Amino acid sequence: MKGFVTFEGCEGVGKSTQIRLLREYLEGEKKDFVLTREPGGSRLAEKIRAVILDAGNAEMCDPCEALLYAAARAQHLHEIIIPALKAGKLVICDRYTDSTYAYQGFAKGLGRAWIDELNRLSVGEYTPELTIFLDLDPTSAFARKGGRDEGDRLEMLGADFHKKVYQGYLLLAERDPERFVRVDASGSKQQTHEKVLTLLRARGLI
Ligand SMILES: Nc1ncnc2c1ncn2[C@@H]1O[C@H](COP(=O)(O)OP(=O)(O)OP(=O)(O)O)[C@@H](O)[C@H]1O
Ligand SMILES: [Mg+2]
Repeated sequence: MKGFVTFEGCEGVGKSTQIRLLREYLEGEKKDFVLTREPGGSRLAEKIRAVILDAGNAEMCDPCEALLYAAARAQHLHEIIIPALKAGKLVICDRYTDSTYAYQGFAKGLGRAWIDELNRLSVGEYTPELTIFLDLDPTSAFARKGGRDEGDRLEMLGADFHKKVYQGYLLLAERDPERFVRVDASGSKQQTHEKVLTLLRARGLI
């Protein structure tokens, strides 16, 4: 969908940081844009996510989790993203359908065909025009921060799980290289920011 850009990548690779730097740039350029991330301030999408994240729902199976994420995404799409795109704004979203491929489809094993169908039903034609994949493997992302907290978090969620998520992202880059574009995120924040701007300029998005 024209004017729709998403950021993807493993945890801690700098998605929020790059979106903040991009926001500062776009504000300076007086561009009309919307930054969002699921659940995007949508009351209903927030409620659905609260069900997913509720520790009391430990029995939730993987398909149920994926369907609830897709339900929250559909609501966020209809309430926040579609109106902004219709108003001709550039929409930049922190994570979207590719996270579902990498996490639920690949790392949790629901499989590509299952997620293809899920995405078709939940977002339909509203696929991003460009997805910026901040490419940094999870081990490097956590090591870069050198923080105990992050190390603990990686340990808690399982390093193998995060490695699988990364492999899932690499498959997406192979499958759809025109839309899902790898940007080397191993440099400084500013270096990555320049790469992001170069890519957005090359696509005529800024
Ligand atoms: N290029 C960089 N070099 C060094 N540190 C960085 C770089 N980019 C981001 N960081 C730092 O890494 C940490 C994680 O960055 P950030 O929150 O932007 O990642 P994220 O991809 O949004 O993570 P999450 O998936 O958890 O939302 C922050 O402390 C940030 O300052
Ligand atoms: Mg973030």
